[in-house]
Amino acid sequence: MTQKALIKAAQDARGRAYAKYSNFQVGAAVETIAGKVYQGCNIENASYSLTQCAERTALFTAVAAGEREFRHLVVATENGVSPCGACRQVIWELCGDIPITIVDEQGNIKETSSAELLPAAFGEQDLT
Ligand code: THU
Repeated sequence: MTQKALIKAAQDARGRAYAKYSNFQVGAAVETIAGKVYQGCNIENASYSLTQCAERTALFTAVAAGEREFRHLVVATENGVSPCGACRQVIWELCGDIPITIVDEQGNIKETSSAELLPAAFGEQDLT
């Protein structure tokens, strides 16, 4: 899977966002080690706190399908914002340190990583 195709997958997923309260659509696409892609979008709720972010939708869908190893995550928004704190923790848990590409509506790209987004992360190694 090329980076361009993974970006398109995230942008396509963004088009399916259920974001009727914030009107802020987010799409994500995660590629597995084997090259399979799982997409996610944000899914809001009238009970606001039940909202699910796009990154977690993609990752939870992948894990529910039996996936365990991930290679690359792309997040697509209007303005190229970074994943929220909760998603950073979930990305760290399920992906460890992987490259994360952030793209905006104009196609501007920022390259980062899970470790850069969540330094000194709490993880399984901290549980005694
Ligand atoms: N959102 C995401 O999907 N991912 C993030 O990392 C940040 C926020 C969603 C949640 C909510 O539906 C909307 O963006 C506004 O916060």
